[in-house]
Amino acid sequence: MTPVKVVEKIAEMRSLRRGLGEPVGFVPTMGYLHEGHLSLVRGARAESRSVVASIFVNPTQFGPREDFASYPCDTERDLALLAEEAVDVVFMPSAAEMYPERFGVYVDGGKVTERLEGACRPGHFRGVTTVVAKLFNIVRPTRAYFGQKDAQQAVVIKKMVADLNMDMEVVTLPTVREPDGLAMSSRNTYLNPAERRAALVLYQALRLAQRLWLEGEKDAGCLRREMIALIQREPLASIDYISVAETETLDELDKVKPPALVSLAVRIGRTRLIDNIVL
Ligand code: PAJ
Repeated sequence: MTPVKVVEKIAEMRSLRRGLGEPVGFVPTMGYLHEGHLSLVRGARAESRSVVASIFVNPTQFGPREDFASYPCDTERDLALLAEEAVDVVFMPSAAEMYPERFGVYVDGGKVTERLEGACRPGHFRGVTTVVAKLFNIVRPTRAYFGQKDAQQAVVIKKMVADLNMDMEVVTLPTVREPDGLAMSSRNTYLNPAERRAALVLYQALRLAQRLWLEGEKDAGCLRREMIALIQREPLASIDYISVAETETLDELDKVKPPALVSLAVRIGRTRLIDNIVL
């Protein structure tokens, strides 16, 4: 297998970009790749002439008490996986390249960034929108691919692209799960065996909400209460939030009106996991 082209400098990425065949598909990541990331790469590959992926653990989207310093990393493995998927270029800048000393302009994602993940992780989405806007300006993709796993992130990025008139498309692809239902995540690696078993409670709660809704339950409060009760039976789990919301504004719903986003954030031991389904 020919090794994938790795670019660390913005200037070099820009000049390489000029030679790429259109359309250009782009998959931004923080590395430690799993099948969820690879499904985005395959999605991009299927509808693009050229595919660019990025690996950058973005410091500005982590809170002071979060896992920036310990975020898992295996660059060699990541690059081998991306080579197997026939990615054309991997953009892998340093923090100093992305945030030079006098860096000072940030993108504010507005109201949709204030709830759910934004409420629990102040400043998180400001870091995400800022780095993604920078990556979009550097790579200038035709289409960028995001996972439904991070549903709010996808909503925020779509809104940024629309509101700032970025000339590109944002594609969201389904959540890839382990055979037992746990959503794949780089952070699953933090779980010990007991926590790994306990982590199943996220998907079980989502499935419960889906079943109740399919059986005719339209009261969002009832769905939230049933999910909370189920999760509280798991001693290793503690709930950050449980939400039944409108899919675009992320306003909480009283009555479930499809499409509705059922999402949750739960701590399993010290590991914070998120998941969602759309009704
Ligand atoms: P990261 O967590 O590495 O995720 C990169 C992309 O992979 C995101 O679009 C995410 O939604 C998607 N993804 C993660 N797990 C998935 C799964 N199980 N199924 C499908 N897609 C999945 O999200 C980020 O990085 C960062 O915030 C980033 C956008 C790169 C900005 O720094």
